[in-house]
Amino acid sequence: MTSTETSAEHMGTTLSEAQIAVHWREEEYLYPPARFVAQANSADPDIYHRFSEDNFPECFRDYADLLDWDRYWHTTLDSSDPPFWKWFVGGRLNASYNCVDRHMKKTPNKAAIIWVPEPEGQLTEAITYRELYRRVNEMAALLRDFCGLQAGDRVTLHMPMVPELPVVMLACARLGVVHSEVFAGFSGTACGGRIADSGSRVLITMDSYYRDGKLLDHKVKADEALEAAGKEGAQVSKVLVFRRHPGEYRSANPMVEGRDFFVDEVIGRYAGQTVEPVSMPAEAPLFLMYTSGTTGRPKGAQHSTGGYLSYVAGTSKHYLDIHPDDTYWCFADIGWITGHSYIVYGPLALGTTTVVYEGAPAYPDAGRPWRIAERLGVNIFHTAPTTIRMLRKAGPDLPAKYDFRFKLMVTVGEPIEPEVWRWYHQVVGKGDAVVVDTWWMTETGGFLGATLPGVKPMKPGSCGPGALGIYPVIYDEEGKVIDPGSGRAGNICIRNPWPGIMQTIWGQPERFVQTYYAKYNQDRASKDWRDWPFLCGDGAVQALDGYYRILGRIDDVINVSGHRLGTKELESAVLTVPEVAEAAAVPVVDELRGRVVEMYISLKPGVTGPSEVEEKAKAAIETQIGKVARPRNVWVVPDMPKTRSGKIMRRVIASISNFADVGDISTLANPDVVEGIRHQVQSRKLQRNEVPRQLTQKELEEIRSYGTAE
Ligand code: PRX
Repeated sequence: MTSTETSAEHMGTTLSEAQIAVHWREEEYLYPPARFVAQANSADPDIYHRFSEDNFPECFRDYADLLDWDRYWHTTLDSSDPPFWKWFVGGRLNASYNCVDRHMKKTPNKAAIIWVPEPEGQLTEAITYRELYRRVNEMAALLRDFCGLQAGDRVTLHMPMVPELPVVMLACARLGVVHSEVFAGFSGTACGGRIADSGSRVLITMDSYYRDGKLLDHKVKADEALEAAGKEGAQVSKVLVFRRHPGEYRSANPMVEGRDFFVDEVIGRYAGQTVEPVSMPAEAPLFLMYTSGTTGRPKGAQHSTGGYLSYVAGTSKHYLDIHPDDTYWCFADIGWITGHSYIVYGPLALGTTTVVYEGAPAYPDAGRPWRIAERLGVNIFHTAPTTIRMLRKAGPDLPAKYDFRFKLMVTVGEPIEPEVWRWYHQVVGKGDAVVVDTWWMTETGGFLGATLPGVKPMKPGSCGPGALGIYPVIYDEEGKVIDPGSGRAGNICIRNPWPGIMQTIWGQPERFVQTYYAKYNQDRASKDWRDWPFLCGDGAVQALDGYYRILGRIDDVINVSGHRLGTKELESAVLTVPEVAEAAAVPVVDELRGRVVEMYISLKPGVTGPSEVEEKAKAAIETQIGKVARPRNVWVVPDMPKTRSGKIMRRVIASISNFADVGDISTLANPDVVEGIRHQVQSRKLQRNEVPRQLTQKELEEIRSYGTAE
């Protein structure tokens, strides 16, 4: 494909000249260089035909065939119990075998994982497939024989970005044990809730790790976690503690006799042992990943073994364009779905080299990522807009000083502004890398919308069309289809099941149906998948060329630097402060982090000393959720704006925090409080120089409709 060809030919759709003109004015297309296309895993547009609805669901055989199966499946998709889809039924496989053993046999000396510690003076570690095989086997032996774990048991991991994390995940997978990794930045209390919800009897953690130049005490969180889990009646019998510095324990908290064990002291007993990978049914759960939604309790998204692994392998091949010889660096955290799918399972299933970096993006300076890329010869780079914005701000010219060359770069997790996109493409990608904007979520296992890099042109700010075999649709509130090119936004849904989709919410099947399907399913009894559109939870618009622009969440979730925080979780944390009567969390547009949280609280009668309460509210969020969620401001207000039925109007305070027009307040029970709050908040923000830039139309829409999801 060359850049002189017209867009319509590439779009596979018939567009009139006038429509193309409209289109070009919107955002321009950029085409992948011929050099990229010549080596791409997919460069033939016919692949869209192979993955079209006519060939569904058999098209996904292509993805499953990237794996080694112990027993091949007999049914590609069993849709007899909607919306609990079963993929590759009858098949058996082991995820650890697929990510480790089969590559170890072919390329034992190739690096599977390259680990870069945050302190620049510490040694980078290259773990070959042979070495990974050894470590995974020994760990699996320990989990089985020392912890008594077996297939179907759940284990909670609260691990930072160290190679022990993928080792433990793969050791669990080897046994068919379901892992549930909680982001290390989350608090002990948040981890405890997830231990209890998943019914884990074992917690695996580390004593400490580096972040932004500091060695953080992490074991303290394990003790908090167990206390919190205990309050919910959970029984944890063992805590396995890795040591960040072998042999040296760096935590203020003592080890608990008979409960806590240093892995390095126990693992010796299993030296050289191998564990036969347990052949698991395709539909056996591989892991849980907790995420936030409208209501307070986090949801454990349950992902399958066969369908999930096929989907991440297939999308890694086609969209990340991973070849076995690439050095691939996804600069995300394994504690999130991106890391599970596109640091660990997808890249390792394809037998490539995946880089794991421990620390912060700009430590000790904003040149760090580019030094890592240069030194390791990284040629595929994957990160989130928040990191891109931060690196751009801290060192816009730095990438040019380093000698690295990416063939492909990925952005994920939040909408990316076209301007930031262009810097990423031109400066980081040196004008030569292909940018893939991948839109998806925890629940979906892998990509839903993205440009197939060797086939479709890029368009800054749009993720592209539906991914292969994914058929999106945008509905209005009444369930009517919103046509492409109408300029109208609506609720984006996926019309069909796909192998990477979550199986259920752990322990809450009814909530699964309610949250994702109830809105647009017309007939609960229908056995036809076409009657079960999956509600993604995002607002979107579709252009005439079929490309989607994602506008953000429609539920009450605040996306801070790509971390999904539930409004209700934030508010419940603040309500634990005894002085607080009411709490409401709202998003504020932030140049670097996408959104930040602001919290409004009202106090119980007779309580004074608001500044102390502000600090307490921030601390409550930090201990119960984590630092990422810490609100920028806590505003103590005399009264919240409310509807006549007593509901807090979050859209009104969100507008105030963002200096947007508060809209119609005539239906409030107490419209007179609004002006006072506006004055109080905005004058302080003006003093602190916290006035956001002019909001875009879509940001205004988000703010003005905030909190109306219930
Ligand atoms: O709003 C969308 C946003 O992130 C949400 C999913 O968050 P989470 O489950 O934490 O998974 C993040 C990693 C996949 C989505 O509902 N989002 C994700 N990717 C994009 C995005 N928004 C715009 N563009 C993207 N590429």
